[in-house]
Order: sequence, then structure tokens, then C-alpha cells
Amino acid sequence: MDEEVDLKHNEPILEAQQLTRHFGGLVAVNQVSFTVNKHEIFGLIGPNGAGKTTLFNLMTGLIQPSSGKLLYCGQEILKLRPHQIASKGIARTFQNIRLFGELTAIENISVARHIHINSNVFTGVLGLPPAPKEEQKNKQKALELLALVGLSGRISEKARNLPYGDQRRLEIARALALEPQILLLDEPAAGMNLKEKQSLSKFIRQIATELNLTIILIEHHVPLVMGLCDRIAVLDFGQLIALGQPEKVRTDPAVIEAYLGVGS
Ligand SMILES: Nc1ncnc2c1ncn2[C@@H]1O[C@H](COP(=O)(O)OP(=O)(O)OP(=O)(O)O)[C@@H](O)[C@H]1O
Ligand SMILES: [Mg+2]
Repeated sequence: MDEEVDLKHNEPILEAQQLTRHFGGLVAVNQVSFTVNKHEIFGLIGPNGAGKTTLFNLMTGLIQPSSGKLLYCGQEILKLRPHQIASKGIARTFQNIRLFGELTAIENISVARHIHINSNVFTGVLGLPPAPKEEQKNKQKALELLALVGLSGRISEKARNLPYGDQRRLEIARALALEPQILLLDEPAAGMNLKEKQSLSKFIRQIATELNLTIILIEHHVPLVMGLCDRIAVLDFGQLIALGQPEKVRTDPAVIEAYLGVGS
């Protein structure tokens, strides 16, 4: 156990340095610096509008920073396109689920794998279907992922017909189809009841262990974050106001004032 903790604390995988993003006069992310270590489950919390999703958008190349640096395995990634960042090993889910509603569960995963795997070979560039052997491998992998997220019984269901919790799980499976090293989850428990939240929490821990993942989790449900995360960063009005282990963050006066005091 001690060894595991040491390992988590010694190997940086993602490093934000003075990361800043303005939207007009608003500073959505303001001089934010932190390091996420390999195999950590790292929580990102803060009130609505604190800048959490903006931080994910910066990390995945959807938007560019106004200033600052972002290092992944020691390399600057802020200039990369979203698909380049994804193929380097950073995958995400979205706060507002973004599945292809008319496609089945398995098709949603296969599409993600095709884009990922073929992005640097001719078939992908030309829009050609992959070779049958590759296709078979993709299908097998997609079935494994659906089993992992507990959706084996729903492979042929259209995404839009799945219950909400299953859609969230399917989105996680789709992100995992990119075979990431870091998985960014933007409010994966939103809209779930307590039982579903508890089961999701177990599931996140399970995939982190089984797939050797580093996970960054944005979540408003404080007990879930506190129970699951190794460390937690707290944002408020774009600024990092606390960073540390759950117990330390829970009792930090600035956090209590900005966030935990609200509604708890
Ligand atoms: N594309 C954009 N254009 C203008 N303002 C934006 C844009 N994206 C985010 N913002 C603003 O930046 C701030 C941070 O937004 P962000 O979505 O990152 O917050 P959040 O912490 O994810 O909040 P929530 O918990 O509600 O999801 C907000 O004031 C938001 O209105
Ligand atoms: Mg958000």
C-alpha cells in the first residue's frame, strides 16, 4: 500500500503551469498550476462556473489557452489538435453526453476506435473501411468494453434509447476505446440516483485499477469525490484555491466558504 502511494506521488503525468483562459473580459481559468501523478484518481471540484470544464477543454485541445503551459509526460501539448491529444492518450467524456443517438451502443464504440486507429493510415484518410481482420479485432474490443461497463445486454440498442445512467457508461466505454492513459470524466454521476452514484464510484475505481489509468474527475457530489479521489483540486472563479488529500481539502476554510458550505 505504501509503495502504491509512493508510486502515485512520484510520477507526474500531467502538469498545468500558470494555465489561463480568458473569454472576453472573463478569466475562466486563472493562472492554474497543478500536477497529476500517474495512476492517481484526481478530483476537480468547485462551484458552477468555476472553470472546471474549461480546464478539460484546454487539456483536450478543444480550446487554446490565453497563456500558460500544459505538459503531458513532460511534453507540451497545448498546440496539438484534439485528435492528436486523444491519440497520445488523453480521452474524455462530456458534461452533456455526446453520443451518436441513432447509432447502437456497439457502433458508438466502433466509430471511436476507427477514428482513433485509422487516423494515421490510408484507410482512415481515404474513408475506406478497415480490413476484415482489423474489423473483427475492433468488434471484439468493442464487445469487451461493453462488457466492462456492464452493457453486454444492450449492444444493439440505439444510444438515444438507453437509460441515462447507461448512456453515461457508454460514453465512458467510448472514451476507453481510445485506449487512453488519462481519462477525464466531466460530471459522470450527474442525474444519477444515490445507488447509481455508488455503483459508478466502484466502477471508476475498478477501471482505474484494471486498466492502469490516471483519472481526473469533475463531480459535484462531494461524498463521491471525497471517497474516491487520492487528491482534490478546488477551483473558484477560475482560481485554484486548494489542492490536497480529501481530508485536508474538506477542512480548508477557503473551500468551506467557496464550495462545501453551499448547501451542505
Ligand atoms: N465558450 C465560452 N465562451 C464564453 N464564456 C465561456 C465559454 N465557456 C465557458 N465560459 C464561461 O467560463 C466560466 C467557466 O465555465 P465552465 O463551464 O468551465 O465552468 P464549470 O466549472 O465547468 O461549471 P459547471 O459546474 O456549471 O459545469 C463560466 O463563467 C462560463 O460562462
Ligand atoms: Mg462544467
